[in-house]
Amino acid sequence: MNAVLTARDLTRHYEISRGLFKGHATVRALNGVSFELDAGKTLAVVGESGCGKSTLARALTLIEEPTSGSLQIAGQEIAGAGKAERKQLRRDVQMVFQSPYASLNPRQKIGDQLAEPLAINTSLSRSERRERVQAMMQQVGLRPEHYQRYPHMFSGGQRQRIAIARAMMLNPKIVVADEPTSALDVSIQAQVLNLFMDLQEQFNTAYVFISHNLSVVQHVADQILVMYLGRPVEMGDAERIYSRPLHPYTQALLSATPTIHPDPAKPKIKIQGELPNPLDPPTGCAFHKRCPYATERCAVEVPELRLLDARQVACHHAEVINP
Ligand SMILES: Nc1ncnc2c1ncn2[C@@H]1O[C@H](COP(=O)(O)OP(=O)(O)OP(=O)(O)O)[C@@H](O)[C@H]1O
Ligand code: SF4
Ligand SMILES: [Mg+2]
Repeated sequence: MNAVLTARDLTRHYEISRGLFKGHATVRALNGVSFELDAGKTLAVVGESGCGKSTLARALTLIEEPTSGSLQIAGQEIAGAGKAERKQLRRDVQMVFQSPYASLNPRQKIGDQLAEPLAINTSLSRSERRERVQAMMQQVGLRPEHYQRYPHMFSGGQRQRIAIARAMMLNPKIVVADEPTSALDVSIQAQVLNLFMDLQEQFNTAYVFISHNLSVVQHVADQILVMYLGRPVEMGDAERIYSRPLHPYTQALLSATPTIHPDPAKPKIKIQGELPNPLDPPTGCAFHKRCPYATERCAVEVPELRLLDARQVACHHAEVINP
């Protein structure tokens, strides 16, 4: 096994105040996520707004401590790592955000912004740093004269290229990209996705690629993790899940995704109702109030992830639903 990123039962809870005299409540934003990701591979994390995708991203990039569970980067456990080790691990896992503008300094030339991680973390000379930055700029499709320009002088797509270049500067083992194309024009999205793919091929970087939209990640994902209200509901090989989703929620997400050649044999499942309140999640299967196949058992018993048809699925009735 060549796992660069291993999560075991990763959990993140937030204590929030319900208001004066009403005490506190716990949001289980991330409620037991486990996976292994190999070098050069992409895990796509999908689910509706509020299902815990960004919470997972912050835990994986060490921006926030998990409440419990274990996280290993290249075999090294995070909990218990010393300060120096942590610093190294932080370099190994970089993040690309949805809005590239928010993550760039408006008053600094982009060449200098790209050189900054090298100045802090390496002993390269000024001219060597400049050479590295120019090489990376070329790799992400920017021109040499862009070195001297400021963020506002670029289009949204170009700014996301800069953010990707910055994430790649220290040759990280893992890049976590949180909705990296959803703020971009549709015409630009494919170009940025292609850039991610090219860089992965070249540097063998592992990606955790977050999106609320299954069609966006279809061409980049090796593995898929579908989340609902903080929990994984289906996880496994991307092709297998796209061609035969087993969980009703994955089926609903997929049938909400427009395709060029819709299959008339596949029934359209519409997700009914609203996402439940995360402060007051439903008992049993968190999806039961919206699931067309829900039974009494679903309302009382939490379905655990289990192996079925070479992927993991958390549904009591997956066999009956998918004969
Ligand atoms: N700092 C925080 N304090 C309290 N609750 C939080 C905090 N951050 C996130 N949450 C809650 O945790 C849950 C998961 O949020 P998260 O941002 O991870 O979802 P998401 O899947 O990234 O959603 P989106 O698609 O809208 O970005 C939500 O109910 C959210 O309100
Ligand atoms: S466990 Fe029940 S409610 Fe949950 S997805 Fe399966 S059938 Fe639907
Ligand atoms: Mg988010």
